[in-house]
Amino acid sequence: TRSYSITLLPGDGIGPEVISVAKGVLSLAGSLEGIEFGFQEMPMGGAALDLTGVPLPDETLSAARQSDAVLLGAIGGYKWDNNEKHLKPETGLLQLREGLKVFANLRPATVLPQLVDASTLKKEVAEGVDLMVVRELTGGIYFGKPRGFSSNQNGEEIGFNTEIYATSEIDRIARVAFETARKRHRKLCSVDKANVLEASMLWRRRVTAIALEYPDVELTHMYVDNAAMQLVRNPKQFDTIVTNNIFGDILSDEASMITGSIGMLPSASLGEKGPGLFEPIHGSAPDIAGQDKANPLATVLSAAMLLKYGLGEKNAAERIEAAVLDTLNRGFRTGDIYSDGNTLVGCKQMGEEVLKSVESEVLAT
Ligand code: NAD
Ligand code: IPM
Ligand code: MN
Repeated sequence: TRSYSITLLPGDGIGPEVISVAKGVLSLAGSLEGIEFGFQEMPMGGAALDLTGVPLPDETLSAARQSDAVLLGAIGGYKWDNNEKHLKPETGLLQLREGLKVFANLRPATVLPQLVDASTLKKEVAEGVDLMVVRELTGGIYFGKPRGFSSNQNGEEIGFNTEIYATSEIDRIARVAFETARKRHRKLCSVDKANVLEASMLWRRRVTAIALEYPDVELTHMYVDNAAMQLVRNPKQFDTIVTNNIFGDILSDEASMITGSIGMLPSASLGEKGPGLFEPIHGSAPDIAGQDKANPLATVLSAAMLLKYGLGEKNAAERIEAAVLDTLNRGFRTGDIYSDGNTLVGCKQMGEEVLKSVESEVLAT
């Protein structure tokens, strides 16, 4: 048997609810492939603030670093919204991404045939969408300096941030994006704001230069405002999208809705070496937290990405993906993806149904 150590970071809001489901699914799918997991749960985000006074305790970061992969639920909540910057749950998440050096964030948005009706877009537009957003995750305006609060010449308070990218940061995310596109339909669209921003002008220049290494991939460029529009006009034109930290954050939430719900979208954050970080793209959903209403499938599918991208355990990953499809085929839906004729279930029951599907070893499509 192969064994792996997994750091679980349940976090806040619906985080613990969806992590509990994903942990069970991971264990079962793993055991069917002869894989054993050692799980270590660590505090993170608001939960860590309440427990230790900081959003990312040293012990949590070092446990994460020493494990084979990290699975995160979500962090954040009203309670901590007015905290100072360094005491915000979100700051802990940025510190974790930086600490693990996971600069490449893969966010696939696939419209499953079972969920075409859950999309808010017309069937003809949504059907068959299968795109991948490659988001730069450890640079740009999220981390750029100078940043802070100050005052201007009129004595008025100002808040400021810096959108900044170095050549090496652009080159490495571009290479991940070209490699990703190469394994898909060999079309890469780089999204920027090069008509206005210097950081984007350099971005476009470097992505164009790296393209010379990938003559088999077709590269196009698009301004982010147009990309936001094109994503709802005709999302099927996209295969792989590469973009900076903040545009990737926004466009991936937009892309998620094409698939029916943000509760369906997983992600993988990878670096050059060391453990990857796997998390749903959604947040802690404080509006539904503690009510057993959350859709756990984004986290379950993040566990599948953990197996595939983090551990190279493709078969176990495919068991999970097949089980999710089988559960949807059997008609089970949480509220966010519910439509007439389906069976409405909560987070826990959705998890139990996925376990049954894993157990029955379907290889559904
Ligand atoms: P959110 O993604 O938490 O929620 C947006 C909407 O989507 C809500 O109506 C929510 O109920 C719904 N939703 C989200 N996930 C769902 C799921 N799995 N099943 C069903 N419905 C779901 O975004 P927000 O409300 O803007 O942010 C809430 C908190 O989460 C904030 O503190 C924010 O900073 C944080 N956040 C954290 C992460 C993360 O941990 N990676 C990501 C985004 C936001
Ligand atoms: C995400 C979230 C985070 C981000 C926040 C919570 C820091 O929105 O993972 O998409 O902006 O990256
Ligand atoms: Mn986001």
